[in-house]
Amino acid sequence: MSKPVAIVTRKWPESCEERLKELFDVTLNANDKPFTEEQLKTAMQNCDVLMPTVTDKINANVLSVENRRVNMIGNFGVGFNHIDIEVAKKNGITVSNTPAVLTDCTADIGMSLLLMVARRVGEGERELRANKWTGWRPTHLLGTKVTGKTLGIIGFGRIGQALAKRAKFGFDMKIVFWDPFDISVDVVNKFEATKLDTIEDVCKEGDFISVNCPATKETFHLIDEKKLKLMKNTAFLINTARGDIIDETALVQALKNKTIAGVGLDVFETEPNLPEELKTLENVVSFPHLGSASIETRIAMGNTAIENSLAFFEKRDLPNKVV
Ligand code: DGY
Repeated sequence: MSKPVAIVTRKWPESCEERLKELFDVTLNANDKPFTEEQLKTAMQNCDVLMPTVTDKINANVLSVENRRVNMIGNFGVGFNHIDIEVAKKNGITVSNTPAVLTDCTADIGMSLLLMVARRVGEGERELRANKWTGWRPTHLLGTKVTGKTLGIIGFGRIGQALAKRAKFGFDMKIVFWDPFDISVDVVNKFEATKLDTIEDVCKEGDFISVNCPATKETFHLIDEKKLKLMKNTAFLINTARGDIIDETALVQALKNKTIAGVGLDVFETEPNLPEELKTLENVVSFPHLGSASIETRIAMGNTAIENSLAFFEKRDLPNKVV
């Protein structure tokens, strides 16, 4: 049997690319330049499985291109808000993602942002690199103590819970959360967590608020001017989920007005572009979407996308089917 034809839209870790070459008749993207919409459409006409990632806008035009050959999209990543899932479903295209393997690393990045923004680590490092450090003194760069504070988690799924684990057992933090789904009593008890009735309640109660829900139509600008105003002016906001869950314009205003104490962001509304203020305000820590960026995790993500695609062609149940 001939190998399925695959097109991979970005450069993958070397061991995954070697595996792709063995299992598929694959076209890789050695120069790692993102595909244009036209290139995505052409790819859809020329392969059996497309393996895109978060930077590819797989919209209705791409999914409905004439003479489409693709029936399987093996996404490299857990988030699939860049794929029009409704249209994929309507067009009979199977889509898979790579959950679970990136949970720990994403939670680590959430905790890093939390610690960095609270303890003013970025400011300190910038000062030192600029040769402006004049030495230790009792009132130098005083931040906020993390241990024992309240962490409010919006979206208590895999990553929210992994963050809770770090915060509760590493930093003795009190966990409150909101989630639209029922969370098992065992999980709630494990973290001695409290489920609050509304997102507004979480915003009011947390010393740190972490966004850990998926990006959907319902969560677009979920954290808006009103919710930012509900937060304590000593509280910090953390986002490792998707940029457009927070209204960035309202956020910049809240930071400038000191409505909140600071923010730690790994994701932005229109990546890789972000408002100038998020690069210059001192009470902001920004990372370039590093959540899953460890060698181990990126290899696991590639292998998971491969497993899903193989299962499709071998007519087995997909380990991680989205639609
Ligand atoms: C994802 O997988 O959706 C992340 O944002 C990239 O790891």
